[in-house]
Amino acid sequence: MTLDEKANFVVGNNFYLPDDPTLNNNVRPEQKKVTGAAGTTYAIPRLGIPSIVLCDGQTGLDVFYQTVGRTYYATAGPNATLLASTWDTTSVSRLGAAFGEEAKEYGIDVILAPAMNIIRNPLLGRSGEYFSEDPLLSGTLGAAFANGIQSQGVGASIKHLIANNQESNRLVNNSIVSERALREIYLRNFEIAIKKSHPWTIMTSYNLVNGTYTSESSDLLRTILRNEWGFKGFAMTDWYGGKNPVEQMKAGNDLLTPGSPAQTRTIIEAVKSGALSEQVLDENITRILNVIQHTLSFKKYPYSDHPNLIKNAIVSKEVATAGMVLLKNNSAALPFKKNVHIVSLFGVNGYDILPAGNGDLIINPPYRVSLSDGLMRHSFTLEKSLNNAYLPYILQEKLKRPKKSLFDENFHPTPLIPQLDIDTAILSKTANASDIAIVSIGFFTGEGSDRKPEAFDLNDKDLKLIKTVSLAFHNKNKKVVVVLNTSCVIDVMKWRDYADAILLAWQPGLEGGNAITELLMGEVNPSGKLSITFPAKYEDVPSSKTFPGTEHPEKAFTGVMGIKMIPTDALYNEGIYVGYRYYNTFTVKPAYEFGYGLSYTNFSYSPVKLNASTFRGKMTATVTVTNTGKLAGKEVVELYLSAPKIKLDKPSEELKAFAKTVLLMPGKSQTITFTLNSKDLASYDSKSSSWIAEAGKYTVKIGGSSLDIKTSTSFKLEHDLVVEKDHKALTPQVGITELKK
Ligand code: BGC
Repeated sequence: MTLDEKANFVVGNNFYLPDDPTLNNNVRPEQKKVTGAAGTTYAIPRLGIPSIVLCDGQTGLDVFYQTVGRTYYATAGPNATLLASTWDTTSVSRLGAAFGEEAKEYGIDVILAPAMNIIRNPLLGRSGEYFSEDPLLSGTLGAAFANGIQSQGVGASIKHLIANNQESNRLVNNSIVSERALREIYLRNFEIAIKKSHPWTIMTSYNLVNGTYTSESSDLLRTILRNEWGFKGFAMTDWYGGKNPVEQMKAGNDLLTPGSPAQTRTIIEAVKSGALSEQVLDENITRILNVIQHTLSFKKYPYSDHPNLIKNAIVSKEVATAGMVLLKNNSAALPFKKNVHIVSLFGVNGYDILPAGNGDLIINPPYRVSLSDGLMRHSFTLEKSLNNAYLPYILQEKLKRPKKSLFDENFHPTPLIPQLDIDTAILSKTANASDIAIVSIGFFTGEGSDRKPEAFDLNDKDLKLIKTVSLAFHNKNKKVVVVLNTSCVIDVMKWRDYADAILLAWQPGLEGGNAITELLMGEVNPSGKLSITFPAKYEDVPSSKTFPGTEHPEKAFTGVMGIKMIPTDALYNEGIYVGYRYYNTFTVKPAYEFGYGLSYTNFSYSPVKLNASTFRGKMTATVTVTNTGKLAGKEVVELYLSAPKIKLDKPSEELKAFAKTVLLMPGKSQTITFTLNSKDLASYDSKSSSWIAEAGKYTVKIGGSSLDIKTSTSFKLEHDLVVEKDHKALTPQVGITELKK
């Protein structure tokens, strides 16, 4: 390659969005291969190097443009918190494979997913795109998703490495985090996912960590990612991420996205002036080429433009039913009794589901099944006066919506249609005329901004609807079920007493209405468990006082696309006490704890048995789970470990292993054996940059949630163990006073 070719090759071809002429200067032919995909790389035909296509796809392929003769329908799958709530690697990997197959048939080489940042705070705008507050759950399921994608010969890009835990000032936010919290929480999920799936690529995050942009951090990309973890793929920036192309190249961030001619020029000049060695550039290029040689574009795969959307929709539905969480079920309100035929369905969302993403525009699913459709398809009758009120209202409200480009919609989503006021006469009529009430509530957040604390709560109209429906139906001795179609954690305390049952449907994908109905009627028994805590109130969240950081308006400037950038410091002074690690250790009672979820059956646990009483490099824990109820069901079995606190502070317990049983018929059992290794016992000691297991008593706790421990036992570690020696890296530039027990 000539220097010119080299400098073009490490810089993407920029966006090509057909409806935004400002982004379409000097369009190269390869940019039009899959219109609407987030990016492409530079082709060098003279050397036989094709351009490869990069496309978003956490909840479905974001190929949202129609061009002449091509409409990219994509399966909308469940969002990541739902995926994590399955606690099931097989389900998550099947969905990844479905997206991989769609990518393959549309000519896409790399899916920019899984997105797997830790949900540090529930107000995080993108929390619905991320898996969990726990690194083991996030890392294990992220790996399953990446493995599914890559089983189709399409690459995954695990993102956003690392500590990208807010949208506020996301391009200039400095996450100030201790080495211990980084290693145990914010790096750990990526470490697990990368080691278990060997993704073709990773994407660095927008933010800085301890003063350095992640995309310019040699500590992160060379020392940790490549040297310590053995990552072999290429690294790319997030779109417009970081500042200095030369520093990015030097750090080992191989591809700059979406790419601009200015970045290419900077790289050429830096090589000419000696500021960037050509050898470094060659290494960046080699890593990209190593991936390109495996791509479908390189292999000239004859993509059909006809993925198997029918098969993938079935996968989407099955995964959705596996990850919805039954939060409440008083007096067995669910599943529907045999005498439930006529359903009063309340709430705009019941007739107009939020399948995935911001609103519903970014993924272009071939159809979407609302809850009203789902109920009717399963032979329930909808109470007519409600149907007649909601449908025209929704249509009318949609007609009022301003016409926006899809790009604009992504960053400034149109708010949801306000709740329709149902008058009391209709209410009592419907309560008489139907067998049960369902109130379906929609709620979403998305990319570009975080919620404000007051938006943790449902709005007044939603609250009023739940309360009035509850009064009217309870007066007639009829049950009220609330279905939550939300991408994120919301308040439940202000209204949950009004509901007999609550089903958390998350964002369930295009088959959502069918999946919800199958659970409500008991065709499928709920088996999802929370991948994130529902706190009793926002103020209980350990990072509530510091999120989303302190702005420095005096340093503000105008950045890319005219966005106002306000440098911000986000101090992670809760340290390792994220999610249940905090609530359990500091005994703060949540509304619904991490790992929680009900079933229509019950399970009993045998006493846990260890293979030894003293730890010598490995330990197994065996438990038998039995279905003691009347319906077939699956149980998520969670293993937590309490470690001795000698020199290092420790959470009261941490998730170290989990498994989901097969479908157990009533009376049937399954024996599960978990293996603990030395790193599971260890905590990170920042002083010595090593993982240390302290001698003493360790308690293994196994149960159905982080607070519902059914059986426990302990073992001994005789001597302190240095389990792993790492490099000193990503050291904070300021002192952090961290929360301690
Ligand atoms: C997001 C990434 C995404 C990229 C390309 C960025 O704004 O942070 O997650 O992959 O855009 O669309």
